[in-house]
Amino acid sequence: MDIKLIEKVDICFGLCWGDEGKGKIVSFLARHGNYDFVCRWAGGNNAGHTIYLDGTKYKTHLIPLGVFFGKKSIIGPDCVVNVESFKKEIKYLRENGFNTDLVKVSPKTHIITKEHIEEDIKKYYNSQGTTAKGIGPCYRDKFGRTGIRAEEVEFFKDYLWDEKLYGNILCEGAQGFWLDIDYGNYPYITSSTTLPYGACSLGFSPKLIRNIYGAAKIYDTRSGKDPLFPEDLLEDPILNKIGLEGEEYGTTTGRKRKVNWLNFDKLVEAINKSGTTDIIISKVDVLEKVNSFKIIFNNQKINFDNISEMKFFIQLRLKDLCPLLNNIYFSKDKEIVENFKFD
Ligand code: IMP
Ligand code: MG
Repeated sequence: MDIKLIEKVDICFGLCWGDEGKGKIVSFLARHGNYDFVCRWAGGNNAGHTIYLDGTKYKTHLIPLGVFFGKKSIIGPDCVVNVESFKKEIKYLRENGFNTDLVKVSPKTHIITKEHIEEDIKKYYNSQGTTAKGIGPCYRDKFGRTGIRAEEVEFFKDYLWDEKLYGNILCEGAQGFWLDIDYGNYPYITSSTTLPYGACSLGFSPKLIRNIYGAAKIYDTRSGKDPLFPEDLLEDPILNKIGLEGEEYGTTTGRKRKVNWLNFDKLVEAINKSGTTDIIISKVDVLEKVNSFKIIFNNQKINFDNISEMKFFIQLRLKDLCPLLNNIYFSKDKEIVENFKFD
């Protein structure tokens, strides 16, 4: 029997509430990291990744970013797919000159139907602040074993993945730790597993996971409803400035995101429970521009005089509190991560 083995698996995922800059990190890794596959393991077109390639901005919602770098791009069995939005994304990629033959969909991926979307809009968009893409109802039908899978849809015939993985794999997370179905603030969460262990649904053993790249920002944001991010945050002038400077609007919904100071307690918990080995903290330049530096630590706000003091505090405490963490990186918007090491 001829078996091609998996050498290693790296995972990039969000440590917060989504929108942490995963797109930038995944494209950096996909470009430089010698991967054979880039795979999405959960969610659907509720996600939104923005990437910059040679100065041009591109946006995807479902198709993994590997397609921009000539890598096989897999939509895994625990994802959910909207056929029309998939077609639109394929068309967009083709028109921009990318090879969409690299895009494959697991035969087991569940299909989001018109009814799922209608139900989401009617029941959950306002009450829970969902993205109205039919995600929750689709996962309900999956677990209720009444859903439709990609293998049953004629259109996907040419896109079906043979369910084989080999070589070096990069897994691309969607949403973030605190939107996870089990870990987040239920019911103000999404309906899938956003933690790195969820990536194993693609068909590899957890033993093969090497690096877990956790994405965070130097401040927190939340798009969608969540009592942990009360509406009056929108009234705070400094937080508003951060939101404006950081362009904190939803990639998928266009909604204004709520901004708060970095909740360090939550960040530490997310790092430790996910097994993050490398953290990339983005948008340092936004706080520099606004010239205000605070963190929520032990439920209390701490103030710093400048960015160096704040970075020093973050590094010191993370090293102390997160035993699995090997590397801490900071990055400025649209800029390559500082001093990044591959292993
Ligand atoms: P759903 O995933 O559309 O059901 O939305 C459930 C919750 O997750 C809502 O609060 C959304 O705003 C949030 N959410 C879902 N996907 C994303 C994302 O990609 N970024 C940020 N928030 C998201
Ligand atoms: Mg996003």
